[in-house]
This record gives sequence, structure tokens and C-alpha cells, in this order.
Amino acid sequence: LNGAPALREAFQDAFNIGAAVSTGILSSQDSFIAKQFNSITAENEMKPVEVQPLEGSYNFAAADQIFAFAQANDLAVRGHTLLWHNQTGDWMFRNSAGAPCTRQQLLSRLQHHIDTVAGRYRGQVYAWDVVNEAIEDKSDLYLRDTKWLQIIGEDFIRHAFEMTHQADPDALLFYNDYNETNPVKREKIYRLVSDLLDQNVPVHGIGMQAHWNIYGPSIEEIRQAIERYASLGVKLHITELDLSMFQFDDRRTDLTAPTENMLKLQEQRYEEIFSLLLEHRNVIDSVTFWGVADNYTWLDDFPVRGRKNWPFLFDEQMEPKEAFRRVIDLT
Ligand code: XIL
Repeated sequence: LNGAPALREAFQDAFNIGAAVSTGILSSQDSFIAKQFNSITAENEMKPVEVQPLEGSYNFAAADQIFAFAQANDLAVRGHTLLWHNQTGDWMFRNSAGAPCTRQQLLSRLQHHIDTVAGRYRGQVYAWDVVNEAIEDKSDLYLRDTKWLQIIGEDFIRHAFEMTHQADPDALLFYNDYNETNPVKREKIYRLVSDLLDQNVPVHGIGMQAHWNIYGPSIEEIRQAIERYASLGVKLHITELDLSMFQFDDRRTDLTAPTENMLKLQEQRYEEIFSLLLEHRNVIDSVTFWGVADNYTWLDDFPVRGRKNWPFLFDEQMEPKEAFRRVIDLT
């Protein structure tokens, strides 16, 4: 693999290639990241509870560090995320007595949060994941039953997009979700974005998280999702790609290295997936991995604590895996 081009160069005519990073990873792997990628996402540092842990008390130290790195290395930043049901301070949804706050109060907190965060980085964020995971994942419900929905009602989504557009008029605004290739959820995501577009809400793209594994979803399902979303005329970003070595509910925690068979399946899947993404390069303009290399992934602890995982193109020593070569060879 000596002399192989970096990912960002190999795909420069197709789409941006990104990685989720933390300030810790940035400080130890800065040159590697700047060499391979041309886009970054803060893995946690820009989430609501991180930037506004208490009402009105903002902390931008970590996020600022990520922007400084991006600027120094000329990397695009995907902003993640302004409205989510997770990693958001509980204070957001309560009044001073601890009871649920009013619709008006929550809307004004949302406005304050978005003005402050999107306003601070105005002009520096290529795309914002404005709303994350608002669609119900399991039952027949349309939207996920969250405090946002309970307190504001369905139009919390529209408000978030409109507020973000005001705060940063040049950023591309995305709706981001997972299990996005599941046909039932796919249609809910389609409906949501289609309704927003009908109401002239500033939404410019759909983020497909792409937390997939070496067994699924099938290439056909991924293709159908891409084509269905693209038919709305919006951009698509692959926002959190990783290919887990395990089925979601596999409880095994004893493996200390991937098996040959796992690696083979992963190589084949990476090749098929990137070949599909390249086919759709006219609508996909960014592909971000949810991490950098197999030495660290959030999947090491999710959903099974202590189950080591190896979902990326670089191994635990940060050397390119065979999957890397297969992907590079497509370009
Ligand atoms: C994950 C981070 O990777 C973890 O470090 C954190 O503990 C939980 O959140 N969907 C998203 C991401 O949109 O923000 C999540 O990131 C992974 C799933």
C-alpha cells in the first residue's frame, strides 16, 4: 500500500471525505487526519449539552479547538447537531420548579441556542445537521416521542431549520437519521423532508448516518434509499459511516482481533458501498466516517459494552487495511 493516495485525494472529484473527531484524537492524530480527510465533524463537542450544559452558560472551548484545526488545515466542518433528544441538558425542557416548561419557553430556548451556536460559527460550517433522529425508529408512530414533540408539537422541526437559516444563511441544512435504509423509516424520512420542502422550509439535504454492518443492509436497500431521497431534489451526505463486524445484538465480547472472515466480508462491503456511492456522486457530496481508525470507535461500547469493534478502513495501528485498497482502487 506504499505510495497509495490519501482518501481525500482519491475521491476529490467525487465527494468530500470526512471523519468524526474529538479534541483528544485531534491532538494525537492531527497530521494523519489532515492528510486523509478534507472534512471533519465533532463527535460530541458541538452537541447541545456540551456547548450549553446549563441555561445561558455556554462552553465553546472544545468546539473552538476543532474549528481552529479545520481552519489551519483547510478542512470543511459539518456541524453536528443543533436539535436532538439525546445529549441535551435536561434543563432545556423544565421550568424553575422542575415541571415541563411551556411551548413558548422551549421555542425561545431553541432560538437562543441556535442563534448562539450557529451564529458563532456563521460562515465556517459547510453543512449543519440541524435536526437529528426526530423520526420514530420502531413503532408505527411517525415522529419520535420526545420532549421536543411533546412540548412544542410537530413544527419544532420547521422552527429549527428556519432559525438555523437565519443564523447562518450560507450553511447547507440537513435532516440526519439512522436506519435510513429501512423501507418503513425511509418513507417517514421522505415524508418529513417532502413536507418541509412543500412549506418552503430551508432544508437542503438528508444525512444518512450509515451505521451499517458487514451483513447489512443490502446494497439494493441502500440504493433504493439513495434514489428515493435524491428524488426530492436535495443533497445527500453520508454522515456517520461505520461497518460494524457484528450484528447489532451480537453479545460476544471475547474477540480481541477481527476474524479473517469478518475482514473479507468487510472488504467486499466497503467496495460495494463505495462503488454505489460513486455511482451517485452527483447527489452525494460528502462521505464521513464516524471515526478515524480501528484503535477507537464508539462501537467499542455500543450497543454492547466492552465489545471491541473494527469498523474502519485503517487498523488499530492506523495502517490502511485491505478494505482501504479496495476502495481506493475504485477511483
Ligand atoms: C455518539 C458518539 O460517538 C459517542 O461518543 C457518544 O457517547 C454518543 O453519541 N448518532 C449520532 C451521533 O448522531 O451523534 C452519535 O455519536 C452516534 C449515533
